[in-house]
Amino acid sequence: MRRHLIVGNWKMYKTAAEAAAYVRRLAGLVRQSAKVEIVLAPPFTALSVAALPIARRFVFAAQDLHWEDEGAYTGEISAPMLTTLGCRYVILGHSERRRLFGEDDAAVNKKVLAALRHGLRPILCIGESLAERQRGQTTRVVLRQLQKGLHGIPNEAGRHLVIAYEPVWAIGTGQAAAPKQIDAVHRTIRACVARKWGRVAAGRLRILYGGSVKPDNIIDFLGTAEIDGALVGSACLDPKSFARIITQTQSAKQ
Ligand code: PGA
Repeated sequence: MRRHLIVGNWKMYKTAAEAAAYVRRLAGLVRQSAKVEIVLAPPFTALSVAALPIARRFVFAAQDLHWEDEGAYTGEISAPMLTTLGCRYVILGHSERRRLFGEDDAAVNKKVLAALRHGLRPILCIGESLAERQRGQTTRVVLRQLQKGLHGIPNEAGRHLVIAYEPVWAIGTGQAAAPKQIDAVHRTIRACVARKWGRVAAGRLRILYGGSVKPDNIIDFLGTAEIDGALVGSACLDPKSFARIITQTQSAKQ
């Protein structure tokens, strides 16, 4: 059985002091449960909160990395820098990085490989735009991002991987995809991974949904066996709202 995973993507919100206050507040609102892994992805400058004793019950993720371990890359952060801060996951290929910062599938692939090389678990984001969906290209786009993003990754590394299906038209719009639409894409993703790495590996893979997930719709998604959790943006910024998403996931049937 796949353990549910709820990831809060803070994007470019919260200073280090605000992050520390958030983690204390969230810790007071949620209990730990073996059923759900709770991952927080603050900006780089707030990742130091992972070292607070109260933060031990959470797992931390970065929102990006550079594929080289070190070098003359002004402004960039490498995988070893993140692991020493206590990160276990890294979000890669988020549509905002692809769209606003020109990241292509080849760059995302180098980042996935770098993360795995250093024991960081990639949360690989893939998803179609509204125009692509309307043109009937959803499957083609998602499979291209998946295959190119995972190029050269060996079967055994697959167990450390998480895929987040995030249709671009659902992110930050309040217009979440319907569970049926998500289910169809998740099945396509899992079938592709089964062809690449075999059915056992595909059965182990956690596939999250992201895009306007809120406390009042999370339960709709978790009723679908193919959806293993959520990547939450705006609704994770308030600890009370994120805690509601977590507690509902904890009480959901698996
Ligand atoms: P949203 O963002 O929950 O605000 O739609 C999701 C994401 O960008 O990962």
